[in-house]
Parts: sequence; structure tokens; C-alpha cells
Amino acid sequence: MRRAIYPGSFDPVTNGHLDIIERGCKLFDEIIIAILVNPDKQPFFSIEDRRQMLQEVLRSIAHGKCVLRVDDFEGLLVQYAVAQEAHAIVRGIRAISDYEYELQMALMNRRLEPSIETVFMMPAETYSYVSSRLVKEVFLLGGELEGLVPPLVEARMKDKVAKG
Ligand code: PNS
Repeated sequence: MRRAIYPGSFDPVTNGHLDIIERGCKLFDEIIIAILVNPDKQPFFSIEDRRQMLQEVLRSIAHGKCVLRVDDFEGLLVQYAVAQEAHAIVRGIRAISDYEYELQMALMNRRLEPSIETVFMMPAETYSYVSSRLVKEVFLLGGELEGLVPPLVEARMKDKVAKG
């Protein structure tokens, strides 16, 4: 039984994240999609909204026999990973620009907890420029999000802005 943690802010979940989860399902029996609770950041969506959206959009991805769970965590990722009895942390790497930061985190996490491996995965080229940060920026400036996030996420973003 191989369990991985896929951590992130998921504010909001993008098609790039879903692509990584689908690929991760080929390697792991269970993936916990773990949303970081970060009191220092002002998020677009609350943790509860992000959790709900993830749970909904995960229903429509190809996960085979891999069990997908959504959770949130505070504090050190490796402590959370150990508490969940996970073997690995999955991170997506889109471009060489991601690599430096990801390598630093992976090595720090290894130092803190040598039993947990970090696995880097590449998304489809189509998503190599997609990030939650750019999705929010494009959306707030009135750009089209089709193909970048699931339709449900775009609808929730519109709702949120409409409600103020
Ligand atoms: O989606 P993001 O914002 O790039 O995810 C970053 C995340 C959640 C993976 C990272 O910030 C993290 O692991 N935070 C938890 C705190 C921690 O363990 N810090 C030490 C990591 S070296």
C-alpha cells in the first residue's frame, strides 16, 4: 500500500493539478490532496470552499483503483506526512523555474524527515504555464479560463465575485 501526499494551496485547483493527480494515480494506491492552511496569506477561496471544489472535481478524473482523499493541514508538511503514514510527497514541476524552489523544499523536507521521498512529476505540456496565481489574475482582469480550470471552479469564481 503506497500512500502519497499531494500538498498545495489549491487556491483554486487547476487542470494542471488534476493532471498531476491522474499521473500520480499510476504510481500510488492512495493520494491525499492536502490543502495548506496558511494564516499569513489572504486566500481567494476559504479552505472549506477549496476542499469542496476539490472533492467535486476529483470525481471526474481517471483515478483507476487509486483512492483520493482531500484534507487540510497546518504546520510542517513532513510532520503531517508522517502522521498520515505516507511514503512520499508529490509535487508538480512545470518548468525549470519551478525546479530551484522545489529542490530546496524537497531537500529541506528530506533533512527534516529522511523516510519520506519527494516525487516530482511533469504535467502535460498544455498545462506547463498554468498556475493558480495566473488563473486568478486572468480571471480578475476579465480573461477566459476555459481549459485552465474545471468549469465548476470558473463558475464558483464568478459566483464569488458576483456576491462580493
Ligand atoms: O501550492 P503551493 O503554494 O506551491 O504549495 C506549497 C507547499 C504547501 C507545498 C509548502 O508551502 C509547504 O509544504 N508548506 C508547509 C510548511 C512546511 O512544511 N515548510 C517547510 C517546507 S521546506
